Amino acid sequence: MHIPYRAPILNDEMRRKALEMLETGKAFGGEETERFEVELAHLCGKRYGVTANSGTSAAMLALDTRGIGPGDEVVMAANAYIGVLAAVVKLGATPIFVEADADTGNVSPPAIGAAMTAQTRAVVPIHMYGFPCDMDPIVEATKKRDAFVLEDAAHALGAEYKGRPAGGLGDAGLFSFSGKMITTFSPGGAIVTDDHGLAEGVSSLRDQGRLRDEKISFVRRTDASWYDQRWIGYNMHMSEMGAALGRIQLRLLGGFTAHRRKAAAYYTTRFRDADLPFRLPPEQPWARPSYLHYAIWTPKRDALAEFLRARDIETGVYYPRPLHLLEPVKARYGTREGQFPVAERLCRETLSLPVGPHMTEEMQERVADAVIAFFRERRAVA
Ligand SMILES: Cc1ncc(COP(=O)(O)O)c(C=O)c1O
Repeated sequence: MHIPYRAPILNDEMRRKALEMLETGKAFGGEETERFEVELAHLCGKRYGVTANSGTSAAMLALDTRGIGPGDEVVMAANAYIGVLAAVVKLGATPIFVEADADTGNVSPPAIGAAMTAQTRAVVPIHMYGFPCDMDPIVEATKKRDAFVLEDAAHALGAEYKGRPAGGLGDAGLFSFSGKMITTFSPGGAIVTDDHGLAEGVSSLRDQGRLRDEKISFVRRTDASWYDQRWIGYNMHMSEMGAALGRIQLRLLGGFTAHRRKAAAYYTTRFRDADLPFRLPPEQPWARPSYLHYAIWTPKRDALAEFLRARDIETGVYYPRPLHLLEPVKARYGTREGQFPVAERLCRETLSLPVGPHMTEEMQERVADAVIAFFRERRAVA
C-alpha cells in the first residue's frame, strides 16, 4: 500500500464547478474571487481578504503596501520558508533572523523582542507546522515600536490561539493554498486583515497599481478610468478557478482539520505508549493546532525517512535548511553556521508524517507501526 504524504481532495461538486468555470471563461477577478476573499476573511474573524497568485506574492504585496524597503528591517524566523524572505529581500529591506524555540519550533517572544531595533518595520511570526505562536506577547512587543505584524499562517488555516483563529491575530495574516490546508488546484495565496487601507493597497498593487473604486475586489470598469494608476504595481491575481474551488474546500476545512487532529492524536498515543526517543508535537491549553504537518524531531531523521520510504510511506521535511545558511543569504548578509543552533538542529532533525484527510485508519496504523519498528530495531541492536 502506497502512503502519499499529501493528496488533493476532489469531489463531484468540485468537478461540476470546474466545468462551470471553464464555460464562464473568466480568468480572474470575478465573483468567485470576491466571495472567496470575504469567506476566508470571516473564517479568520477579519473584515477583508485579498487573494494573490501565491503566498509569496501576498507577502510581497502586504510589505510593499506598508512601504517597507531599503533601510528597513524585518524580523523573521531563521527556520522559516523562503517565500517571505524572498519578498523582504526583493523589496530591498533587511531580514533579521531569530532563533527557534526548542519546544515548538516557533519564534519565541523574547527572541523577537531582543531582535527589534529602531529600524524594525515588520515582524513575521510563523506558526510552524500549524502550531500557533504565543502571539499576545509578540503583538505587545511590536506595538511599542509601531511595527507591522504579518502572521505567516500558511501552515495554520483552521488553527486557533486562545480561541481565536490563526491568521486573525496580527495586523495581517498570510496564507498559501496549493496543497496545504485547502487545495485550490493552482498556486494561490491571500492576506486577511481589518485594515481597510492595507486591503485596498494590496488589492490595487496586485492589479498593476490601478486606482480603485470603493470595492476591495477586482471589478472591471469599462470607462477610461480603468487606466488611471495609483502607483506602479504587479500582476499577481489568483485564478478565478482556484477561488471557485477554494470556496468549496473552505467549507470542507472543518472536516479536514478534525481529521488531521484525530490522526495526530492517534500517532501521539501510539508513540507515547511505545516510549519512543523523540520529541512529540507540543500541546498547550491555549493552542489548537491545524497539524498541517505532524513533525517529530530525531537525530536519526534521514535513516527513519529512508526506512519509511522503503515501506512505501512518504514523509516531509519542513524545512531542511535554515534561511541564514542558504548560499545567497550568507553571501549577502554575512550569516554563518552556529548563529542559530536550535534552528539549525531542527532543520537536521525534523521529519513530518502524513496526517492529511486522505489518510485512512489503516494507513495511520501502518505509519505508526513502521515508526515504532524502526526504533525497536535500533534499540535491540544497541
Ligand atoms: C510557511 C510558509 N509561508 C509562505 C509560503 C509561501 O507560499 P507560496 O508557496 O504560495 O508562495 C509557504 C509555502 O510553502 C509556506 O510554507
